[in-house]
Amino acid sequence: MGKTYGFAVVGAGMIGKFHAEAIKGLPNAKLVAICDQVQSAADNLAGNFGCTAESSLDRLLARDDVDVVTVATPSGLHGEVAISAARHGKHCVVEKPLEITLDKIDRVLEAHDKAGTTIGGIFNMRHEETAKLFKKAVDAGRFGRMTFGMAYGPWWREQSYYDNGGWRGTWALDGGGALMNQGIHTIDTLQWLMGPVKAVTSFCRALAHERIEVEDTGAAAIEFANGAIGTIACTTSMWPGHFRIIEVAGDRGTVAMADNKFFFWQFAQETPEDARIREKYLQFPGVSVGAANPSAGMTADNHRANFAEFLAALDAGRQPPISGREARKAVEIILAIYKSSKSGKTVSL
Ligand SMILES: NC(=O)c1ccc[n+]([C@@H]2O[C@H](COP(=O)([O-])OP(=O)(O)OC[C@H]3O[C@@H](n4cnc5c(N)ncnc54)[C@H](O)[C@@H]3O)[C@@H](O)[C@H]2O)c1
Repeated sequence: MGKTYGFAVVGAGMIGKFHAEAIKGLPNAKLVAICDQVQSAADNLAGNFGCTAESSLDRLLARDDVDVVTVATPSGLHGEVAISAARHGKHCVVEKPLEITLDKIDRVLEAHDKAGTTIGGIFNMRHEETAKLFKKAVDAGRFGRMTFGMAYGPWWREQSYYDNGGWRGTWALDGGGALMNQGIHTIDTLQWLMGPVKAVTSFCRALAHERIEVEDTGAAAIEFANGAIGTIACTTSMWPGHFRIIEVAGDRGTVAMADNKFFFWQFAQETPEDARIREKYLQFPGVSVGAANPSAGMTADNHRANFAEFLAALDAGRQPPISGREARKAVEIILAIYKSSKSGKTVSL
C-alpha cells in the first residue's frame, strides 16, 4: 500500500465542491481541510465532507497533515495561492487557467521548481473516454499528414452570470472571457491533439452582454507548428448554447467530437476497433454539458481522474501529464489571440 496524501481545497465555491467530491473518492487521498476567505463558505463545505474549515491560507499551509493543495479560487488569484503553497512545501493542483498571464504562470513554476514540489493543472475534458481515444489515434499517426484542426465552443451565459459573479468578466480576475474561462478546455484539447500553435489572427468582441470588460465572442484563424491550419471559435453569446466540437483532419483520416461523443470517425486504414468505437460513440450527445449553465451535467469523475494521475506521478517521482508547463500552453494561445484582436495583426507564438 502506497502513501495516502492529505488534501486541502482552497476556494469553496462552485468548482471547489467538485474538488472535495473528487478527492473523497480516491483511495490514496484524505480530504483534511477546506479553506475559503469567507468563513461560512469554508464551514458549509467542510461540514458536508467531514473535514476542518480554515479561513486563513497561512494557517492552512502551516498544517503538517496537508500534502497537496487544490486551487479553486477566482482565476487571477491562483498564482498567489500556488506560490504560497510551494513556499510551505506543498504540492499543488490548480484549476484552469493555471493563471491569467504568462508572467504570473512563470513565477508559479519557478516557485515550485525552487521548492522541489510538484505543480499540476486541471483539464477535466482530457479525461473523457472519447478524448483519450482521439489522442490515441493521433499518437498512432492515423491521420497521415495533419491538415486541419478546429476547436468550437458555441456556449451561452445569461447576463446574471456576469452580474452575480463579481470576478467574472473582469480582466483582473477572470483574465478574459469566452476564451480564457469557458473555451480554454476546448483550446487545450485541440493543442494536445494537434501540437503547438505557431501563429494566430483573430477577432474578439463583447456582443451580447453588458458591463463586461472581456470578450463573449472570439474567433481565430491559426497555424500549427506541424504545418496544419485551423480555427478556434468560442463564445458565451450564442443562445441557447450547444455542443463543444473538436475536429482534427489529415490526408488519411478525420475525427469530429461533440462533447463526449463522436459524430465522425473515419480512417483510410481501418482497424477492427473503429467499428466498435463508432457503435459506442457515434451519436450526438443528448444534453450539451455546460453550454448554458456552468455546473449542468457536471460530475466529479474527470477531476478525480485528474487528481489520480497527479498522485501517480508523485508516487513515481515524475511530472504529471498535465504538468504546470503543460497547463501553460493553452493560456499562451489564448493570450496570443487577445493580442492579435487588439492589434489587428497576426501574432506569432
Ligand atoms: N474545470 C472546470 O470545469 C471549471 C468549472 C468552473 C470553474 N472552474 C475554475 O475554478 C475557479 C473558481 O471558479 P468558481 O466558479 O468555483 O468560482 P466561485 O466564485 O464560485 O468560487 C470561488 C471561491 O473562492 C473563494 N476565494 C476567493 N479568494 C480567495 C482566497 N484568496 N483564498 C481563499 N478563498 C478565496 C471565494 O470566496 C469563493 O468561495 C476559476 O478559476 C474557474 O475558472 C473550473
